[in-house]
Amino acid sequence: MSVHSEIEEKGKAALNQILEASSLEQLDGFRVSVLGKKGALSEALKQLGQVPAEERPKLGALANEWKTRIESAIESKKADLESQKIEADLKKTRIDVTLPARRVHLGALHPITKTIRKISETLGRIGFDVTTGPEVETDFMNFEAVNIPKDHPARDMQDTFFLGPGVVLRSQTSPVQMRTMREEKWPVRILCPGAVYRCDSDATHSPMFHQIEGLWVDKKVSMADLKGVLDFFAKETFGSQVKIRLRPSYFPFVEPGAEVDVSCAICAGRNPHCQVCKGTGWLEILGAGMVHPRLFELAGYSPNEVGGFAFGMGVERIAMLLHDIPDLRLMFQGDERFLKQF
Ligand code: DAH
Repeated sequence: MSVHSEIEEKGKAALNQILEASSLEQLDGFRVSVLGKKGALSEALKQLGQVPAEERPKLGALANEWKTRIESAIESKKADLESQKIEADLKKTRIDVTLPARRVHLGALHPITKTIRKISETLGRIGFDVTTGPEVETDFMNFEAVNIPKDHPARDMQDTFFLGPGVVLRSQTSPVQMRTMREEKWPVRILCPGAVYRCDSDATHSPMFHQIEGLWVDKKVSMADLKGVLDFFAKETFGSQVKIRLRPSYFPFVEPGAEVDVSCAICAGRNPHCQVCKGTGWLEILGAGMVHPRLFELAGYSPNEVGGFAFGMGVERIAMLLHDIPDLRLMFQGDERFLKQF
C-alpha cells in the first residue's frame, strides 16, 4: 500500500473511532494511539524516507491536514462527551420540586414547664422575683436551716437520697428560703421553682418532681397578706370564681402553718360524685405559714424587726388539676401523644 493511501486509511479509521468513543477516557486512548509518538500517523510518516524526495512535501502536507482534522474531531467529541456527562450528573441529582415536603415537627412546652411559667408570671405581677437554688444540697440547708431537727421523720433514709456525708439531693425547695435570706437583706419577695427528690415511686409519687417555694419577708408582713396573695394566686390560676381556705397544719419552718385548699373549679362542691374533688368541694394545693422566728435567727435577721410568710406547692399537682391529667406518671414518660396536647 502506498504511503499516501496508508495515511488516508489510518486517518479515516481514526475519525470513525473518535466519533464512536463513548467516554472521555476512551477518547484520550484513541488520541494517543493516533497522534502519539508511537501512534498510527507517526508510524506512517516514518515511511516518508522511502518515498522519492519530490513527493515528500505533498505527503507531509497530507499528514498535517489529517492531524488537524483528527485534532478538531477530538475537540468536538470531547465537548460532546463532557456536556453529556454534565447532563447525566444533573439527572442523577435532580430535585423533584413537585414532591410533597417533609413534615416539620414543632416541639411543645412540657406541661410542667408551662405550669411553672404561668405561676411565675402570675406572682411576678405582684412583685415576686424568680430565683434558684442547688439541687445537690447540704444536709444542713435541706433540714437544720429550715428547722427540721435531726430526729425528724422526714430525714429518714427511706425519704431522702443521701449522696454522701452531709450531702443530699434536696427533698424540698424550702432551703432556698434560707439561702436567699442569708444572701440578701430584707425585704425579700422570691419564688423558687425547681426539681426536688424523694425516694418514692407510685401512681401519685415520683422520685423526682417539682415544687415552687414562695417567700415574702418585710417589716409588717402578716397572715392577712399571706391570705391575700394566695387568694390572688388561686383566682388567677383556677378562675375568678374559686375560693381558698386555710386549715391549720404543721410544717417545722412556719408557725402557724396551714394547708391551703382551693374550691373545686369543676363542681364547686355541688357534685357528691365529682371525680376531681371526690365530692368534698375542696382540693389541697399547697402548704404555707408564717416564717418561724428560728429561721430569721439563723438567717441573721432580727425576728423583732421583720415578719414573713412562706408557701410551697407541688407543680405536678397544679398541672394535673389545670389540665385534667389523671396519672402523675404520664408527665415523665415522654410519650409524644400525651405531650403534643399542650
Ligand atoms: N416544704 C414543704 C414540703 O415539701 C412544703 C411547704 C409547706 C413549704 C409549708 C413552705 C411552707 O414554704 O410554708 O412538703
